[in-house]
Amino acid sequence: MNAQALIDVARTLVSDDRGLLAMDESNPTCNKRFAEAMIAQTQESRRAYSELLVTAPGLGKYISGAILYDETIRQRTQDGVLFTDVLAAEGIVVGIKVDVGAKSMAGHPGERITEGLDGLGERLAQYHRQGARFAKWRAVLALGAGRPSRGCMEANAQALARYAALCQEAGLVPVVEPELLMDGDHALDLCGAATEDILWTVFDQFRIQGVALEGLILKTNMVLPGLACPRQPTPDEAADATAACLRRVVPAAVAGIAFLSGGQSGELASARLNALNARSRSRLPWPLTFSFARALQTPALKIWGGARANVPAAQQALLHRARCNRAARRGEYDAAMDRG
Ligand code: G3H
Repeated sequence: MNAQALIDVARTLVSDDRGLLAMDESNPTCNKRFAEAMIAQTQESRRAYSELLVTAPGLGKYISGAILYDETIRQRTQDGVLFTDVLAAEGIVVGIKVDVGAKSMAGHPGERITEGLDGLGERLAQYHRQGARFAKWRAVLALGAGRPSRGCMEANAQALARYAALCQEAGLVPVVEPELLMDGDHALDLCGAATEDILWTVFDQFRIQGVALEGLILKTNMVLPGLACPRQPTPDEAADATAACLRRVVPAAVAGIAFLSGGQSGELASARLNALNARSRSRLPWPLTFSFARALQTPALKIWGGARANVPAAQQALLHRARCNRAARRGEYDAAMDRG
């Protein structure tokens, strides 16, 4: 492991007020989104959509890294250029999702454990040869009666730490994603307490497994109430709850924190990231950025609808959300950017 190379990549991922484009939906998830938008669920549709994303003109001004899926990292544009080469030419670091999904967890009804550690070392070496310099692994935890359970938190945290250690050994920066889902009607403070508990468990495992904090990015949820909670916070309230939670748990050595969007609208995700940076940027030790999938892609996917003629307009929609989020990193996003 070259520790300095890892640190350099991690710093690049959070540099210049840019953030990550998560375009690593598994085929089933991608097909589900296509079905909702009445788009054909074929390998060629998925390729064409990924081409639309990676070739958006000037994407590298806002996006520092793109997280690809196993199918996507091998794909090419219609002109025969590997997506990895298109991204590199834009100054965008190539990332890859390496978990194989969250499965029902034995002994823990309603909870899930993320799998993918078997053979991971060899897969990481292959992805590195294909140009990937960072990776992502997502654990999903739900909030409810007795959940997340200690068993689910510890098993997922250990997997995240083993994944992170393997990544660092293979020369890839681990993006470590423990996601507390927004499903439910729980209040803001319950999300804060559970997020804190999960992150304590994850960082404890990092210490046990010898993970270098300077060479990793934490990808986590903002502290927010459940989507069905009648009392939704202002962006400032959400930002303060998130900052308070992170300040208590995340060591200063971590290279950066990138938030997932988790089902928030693009506008809300930008407003909350903006409030976080406007209110806390100078008082927190880590850069706070975005690693969004839906909050960056949803308008573009709708506009595209599977039609080639819609590609330029869809790319502009993607670039618009990316621009809003770069502004949010600077604390300069204004809802007016999304009007008109
Ligand atoms: O694994 C989830 C993605 O990386 C983030 O997706 O922004 O739609 O929550 P999201």
